[in-house]
Amino acid sequence: MQSTRREVLQGMALAAGAVILVPAVSACTKKDGASVLANADPATRVPQVIPRNWDPIEFNIVRGNAGHIPASYLPDVNGPNGSWDHVGKHLPYVVTLDGGETPEGYVALMWGDQEKGHTPHPNERRGEANNYEGHWYNWIRIRKATLSEAEELQSTYSEWPGLADGDSGAFAVHGGGDIEADGGRQTIYLAALPSDVQSGDIVRIHAHCLTHGEYVDFVQI
Ligand SMILES: [Fe+2]
Repeated sequence: MQSTRREVLQGMALAAGAVILVPAVSACTKKDGASVLANADPATRVPQVIPRNWDPIEFNIVRGNAGHIPASYLPDVNGPNGSWDHVGKHLPYVVTLDGGETPEGYVALMWGDQEKGHTPHPNERRGEANNYEGHWYNWIRIRKATLSEAEELQSTYSEWPGLADGDSGAFAVHGGGDIEADGGRQTIYLAALPSDVQSGDIVRIHAHCLTHGEYVDFVQI
């Protein structure tokens, strides 16, 4: 009998030492303050397709200063090396899982691609250093890059290094081993792909770091 997606993911969870659950479709219709702000100004509106001359660093600096990055982090973002050490650190890139293919219907993401000169993004459990809020991505929204109607699917991660009941994303570890080693920098986020996304498609990744706010970029699946 062919393994179901849940069985495959649970097998991976055991391998990664984490608890994971199968993603569910998010309605994504709720408008929070940030979304309203984003939709108000074309310069900071989340684009549906890759804009001409797309520069994710520049876009996210402008959007971050418009309210999508916490004020406490803006001096770092706007300061020396802010582009690479603070904005680049929060941009996604696609990785391959060790010892197996990424489960069908998912993409494996990490943040801060060193090959582009970006700083790898750490992950940290809740504690004094982060005001007990933790430091990781707590949601990732994926939408096919198209001007046509498309499904946007949200994966959630309400805890790290494990997940909580009701979470729809999954974790793995790049290179295997302890997910908390190396400051959590080897954490892989498995995020669900909308059903209308196929291999080779460009998708928009819109994601939220608990400590550092929202970031937007495009990757090829
Ligand atoms: Fe962060």
